[in-house]
Amino acid sequence: MAKIRNIIIVGAGGFGREVASWIEHLGADAGVTIAGFLDDTKEPCAALSADYPYPVLGSIGSYEPQPGEGVVVAIGDPRAKLRIAYSLAEKGARFYNVIHPTAVVARTAMLGQGVILCPFSLVSASATVANYVTVNAYGGVGHDVVIGEGSTICAHVDLTGGVQLDEGVFVGSNASILPGVDVGAFAVIGAGTVVLRRVEAGTTMYAPLSRKL
Ligand SMILES: CC(C)(COP(=O)(O)OP(=O)(O)OC[C@H]1O[C@@H](n2cnc3c(N)ncnc32)[C@H](O)[C@@H]1OP(=O)(O)O)[C@@H](O)C(=O)NCCC(=O)NCCS
Repeated sequence: MAKIRNIIIVGAGGFGREVASWIEHLGADAGVTIAGFLDDTKEPCAALSADYPYPVLGSIGSYEPQPGEGVVVAIGDPRAKLRIAYSLAEKGARFYNVIHPTAVVARTAMLGQGVILCPFSLVSASATVANYVTVNAYGGVGHDVVIGEGSTICAHVDLTGGVQLDEGVFVGSNASILPGVDVGAFAVIGAGTVVLRRVEAGTTMYAPLSRKL
């Protein structure tokens, strides 16, 4: 199979531009270039902007995978991210892992495909990061943590040792989850929340009292 050389970023919003920035930091050794963005809300054009001179290639649905291409889904909302990732996977797309040069990944950690590790993130010993997970800047993934498919870990989050997130969990900026706590599928943890005990699937919890909305 051809080595991935051309990266397609799915989503040309703020996070898409961040992901483009982090790919630029990979340097020549990575052997990849940004081929462009896919975005359903933008017209195809030769360059997204003066600062991001990569084309908007078309809608997500119009994408047909080509040899040597890898996609990365730069979308924060886990449900939207998973829906898009699964539709692209069904078409035979290959997924690229964007791992910023400042990210630290333990030798014993396991990473799926389409993973984004932003600047200064940490994935510690024996942690598992499933497909299509984002760990944003300064996010900490402690030892033995399991992060389920499509989850989004925002900036400065602390997932302490042994935390288990089911698929599609959204953890807002600066939240902390205490050791060994489980979070059910598609739960949302509000910014700044300290999570002390299990969060049921599909619920939203937020600080200061971790009340259910
Ligand atoms: C928890 C969250 C998902 C709730 O969103 P929402 O359903 O739209 O809720 P609202 O904004 O309508 O707020 C509802 C109430 O919760 C409070 N609230 C919301 N988020 C809160 C938080 N993180 N901490 C404390 N209180 C919060 C609001 O003040 C409001 O209180 P009120 O009813 O007394 O006025 C959202 O506020 C949040 O924290 N998202 C994470 C955002 C983030 O980290 N983004 C990073 C992107 S890179």
